[in-house]
Amino acid sequence: MSRFSLSAGSRRLLTGALVLLSLALPRVGSSQDEVARQRPTARSEGDRFVDTLLAKMTLEEKIGQMSQIALNSPEGPKRDERILKGEVGSFLFVRDPKEIDRLQHLAVEKSRLHIPLLFGFDVVHGYRTVYPVPLALAASWDPATAERAQRMAAREASSVGIRWTFAPMVDIARDPRWGRIMEGAGEDPFLGSRMAEAQVRGFQGSTLSDPGSILACVKHFAGYGAAAGGRDYDSSDISDEQLQNVYLPPFHAAINAGAGSIMSAYMDLNGVPATGNRWLLHDVLRKDWGFQGLVVSDWDSVPSLTTHGFASGPEDAAVRAVNAGVDMEMTSTTFRTYLADAVKKKLVAQSTIDDAVRSILLAKYKLGLFKNPYVPLERSQKELVSDEQRSTARAIATRTAVLLRNQNSLLPLKKDLHSIALIGPLIDSQPDIMGSWSLGAHPQDTVTVEEGLKRYLASSGTKLLATKGVEIERQQPSIFDDQFPSPKPTLTTDEAKQAEFNHAIDLVKQADVSMLILGEAQTMSGERASRSSLTLPGRQEQLLEAAVATGKPIVLVLVNGRPLNITWASEHVPAILDVWYPGTEAGDAIAELLFGEAVPGGKLPVTWPRSVGQVPIYYGRNLTQIPNDPDTRYWDGSGAPLYPFGYGMSYTTFSLGVVETSAKSVPSGGSVDVFIDVQNTGTVTGDEVVQLYTHQRSGSASRPVRELKGFRRITLKPGERQTVTLKLDTRELGFWSSQTRRWAIEAGVFDLWVGTDSNATQHATLEVTPQR
Ligand code: BGC
Repeated sequence: MSRFSLSAGSRRLLTGALVLLSLALPRVGSSQDEVARQRPTARSEGDRFVDTLLAKMTLEEKIGQMSQIALNSPEGPKRDERILKGEVGSFLFVRDPKEIDRLQHLAVEKSRLHIPLLFGFDVVHGYRTVYPVPLALAASWDPATAERAQRMAAREASSVGIRWTFAPMVDIARDPRWGRIMEGAGEDPFLGSRMAEAQVRGFQGSTLSDPGSILACVKHFAGYGAAAGGRDYDSSDISDEQLQNVYLPPFHAAINAGAGSIMSAYMDLNGVPATGNRWLLHDVLRKDWGFQGLVVSDWDSVPSLTTHGFASGPEDAAVRAVNAGVDMEMTSTTFRTYLADAVKKKLVAQSTIDDAVRSILLAKYKLGLFKNPYVPLERSQKELVSDEQRSTARAIATRTAVLLRNQNSLLPLKKDLHSIALIGPLIDSQPDIMGSWSLGAHPQDTVTVEEGLKRYLASSGTKLLATKGVEIERQQPSIFDDQFPSPKPTLTTDEAKQAEFNHAIDLVKQADVSMLILGEAQTMSGERASRSSLTLPGRQEQLLEAAVATGKPIVLVLVNGRPLNITWASEHVPAILDVWYPGTEAGDAIAELLFGEAVPGGKLPVTWPRSVGQVPIYYGRNLTQIPNDPDTRYWDGSGAPLYPFGYGMSYTTFSLGVVETSAKSVPSGGSVDVFIDVQNTGTVTGDEVVQLYTHQRSGSASRPVRELKGFRRITLKPGERQTVTLKLDTRELGFWSSQTRRWAIEAGVFDLWVGTDSNATQHATLEVTPQR
């Protein structure tokens, strides 16, 4: 039986103790004949405006709206001509505000129907000011931090006329080999959902028509993070159970938070390309979730339907993408080339085209583009890398760092040191510490680690001894090489390399303390940047080992977009601080963290493996045979992670009281409060993230050993105690059962654990009773 026909049995039924929730239920895939999309018809003022406009449009103008041109594509140079003929609805990658404004004037003043253009860009973690990468934002375990970062990014991007971002990426990723793990919130659907909603709120603000708001585009729908072997673009095979319980929830949360657009993914999902997957784009998204926004394809993913061995050629690809539910084609031109004919041949219904155009025009309407289409040029002057942007980026970079190890409280560093050695290939790099998808940034705005430390130490007597020691040698060019060319190694001979290495170790010997800034260059994670190993690239590990061998105190500062293999370091390097890719204010933020002006309080949003052989590894697994010793699954090594999901230390310490609940049992559909006392038992003010995990003891299907269902980041002064209350709504305990093939909250006994990582030990039980 196919996954589609299996899902046909999924209906919102009420049986016995199983109370169904109004969550997504897959239904049978509609036939290709039944192409008219059934969208809800709420008659708002915007709908009426759009209908009036639609009535005036020719078929060609409609298809024009469904086409997006990328500036750096062969269509880019033809932009004026396309605008004048009404053959384009949106542009991608136009960044110059004056050019955006010029093109907009052309569209609004010179095209027949005066329809404004929608300018899109990947504002993934900042525009000109770069914020920490999304995986780092998730490491803050603070949705307000993610929201703030994306609000600031929206303000900057909108000031140059960009009103559409291709973010947030909400793909769950459990395989750090996949380069794009850096763009999402990590492995967990609950954390991922909260981060997805927060980012949507940040981008879109309280209203899209606010000139500082931009349209969010949730991506990549769906399952891209499960690419086989972590190989970018490879197919994803995801069971219905995992799809429903793990991969889809962050998308659903983002849609419920009002995300105005969504992007179809590149890969096959269970054998059907996501961009031609009507079950996904129509049945789940439109029918079950009631999504009324705009669906855009990924870059070239429409013609790729042919590459997949799915469509017979470009015309078939266009027909199948639009009939599946794609409203706008990114970059490629199959819609513009073939759709008009396809409508005439009745391969595509006129109503399908109208629905697609309606969602595009409505997005433009909601953004206020029909009223205020032009670029607020004076605002961009004030907004781009403003002091407020910089100080927010710095504060956020300090909130996203995760302290992984701190033996003998080596960190924070003392302020009366005689000398510090600053070593590593990333100490003076500007692009690298911004991370991937920083396409709107100017690297020269970035504060390097060396600059930040120099500035911090300027008025102290501490000497900074800086050298790289090794260079990162790239194996292959990156897709972003045209914008951020990978630096060419300057040390070309073995002798020169060895001399530099030795020099670095000499500096370590001379200094009181050394900081090694190691990790991955900007282009080593992100799109088309998957890896088959997780080691520190090049000779960085050797450098680290040689530095430790000096016997001097060493601090490892990791710059990364994925968990890296630091198993040796975790036993031999006294202090390890993960700063991810911190962005424009990296140097200043790192200085603040190392000297204790800021106290690390982030937590891992992804389980950290010991070696690449353990991946995929994640905490929310199911227990099976020989449950007492799950860590002995490999005979040649531990099965336990290096650091658990949710882990992170502070410069202070905390103690937790016992966990209590407002009730011992709760009817399905109700909620309970879970309380725990937390006290700062150390000597500095610091943050702790209280985390609530649940486990359903028995039910219609096996349930994960633990699932995150609540968290809160709090700040406590030394000695301060706070009772943290986490609300547990039993709807969060519902799941999609592969046995019953539907969503339900199943009555029964649940374990609850509260703690500061996914190994939390404070335990309580809760009985969920059938709904009264
Ligand atoms: C990526 C998308 C991105 C698009 C436009 C694609 O290659 O997969 O995430 O939004 O390019 O830059």
